[in-house]
Amino acid sequence: MTDAHSPDLPLPVRSEELLHRLATRRSAPAQQLAAPAPEGEDLKTLLELALRSPDHGKLAPWRLVVLGAQTRAGIVEKLSAMTHRLPDPVKGKAVLSKLANPPLTILVVSSPVHGHKVPVWEQELSAGAVCMNIEHAANALGYSASWITDWYSFDAEALALFDIKDGEKVAGFIHIGTLPTAPLERPRPQVSERVEILP
Ligand SMILES: Cc1cc2nc3c(=O)[nH]c(=O)nc-3n(C[C@H](O)[C@H](O)[C@H](O)COP(=O)(O)O)c2cc1C
Repeated sequence: MTDAHSPDLPLPVRSEELLHRLATRRSAPAQQLAAPAPEGEDLKTLLELALRSPDHGKLAPWRLVVLGAQTRAGIVEKLSAMTHRLPDPVKGKAVLSKLANPPLTILVVSSPVHGHKVPVWEQELSAGAVCMNIEHAANALGYSASWITDWYSFDAEALALFDIKDGEKVAGFIHIGTLPTAPLERPRPQVSERVEILP
């Protein structure tokens, strides 16, 4: 990785289509995601775009795992057996359908370099940027996506099933596929409530 300026990179140009896409972007209900999902060249493009995310210090403090349906089915069976010790075992089991059903799931793992001068918080934020870029890239390829964590992202025994190592965290499971119908809009925060504009 060098800092060489590539003459190939264009400056941004106004894109009404991209503005419209951003203004209408909406997460998918994960349970409703069905085939088709990106594969082949589309999946390659999606993964390349995912890794093109801002990252202080060029540490690439994340790793991605493409979880195929077979792998997820095996893990979901084991997760299901753990739900009896959750505060709400019924809900804990029910949410597993979000992990089992989508045709494609990409696990984004925050894998910061501890002890580095770039704070871990900044490295973790970069993993969030990867998640968001996956959603945008999936949308650009014509698919819907859903960013989920759920209980198994915070349970030590469950995390071992995904081979999450000490010092790592789940940034998100990004489920991708196609929806039968467009999702409903949800209430959005108003700029006036959340933004301070200073002179
Ligand atoms: C970091 C993160 C974790 C999330 N975890 C869950 C989750 O565990 N369960 C869930 O149903 N939705 C989860 N979501 C999705 C949100 O509940 C919600 O559907 C989404 O943020 C809607 O955003 P949008 O309408 O802007 O697309 C998560 C979202 C983010 C960003």
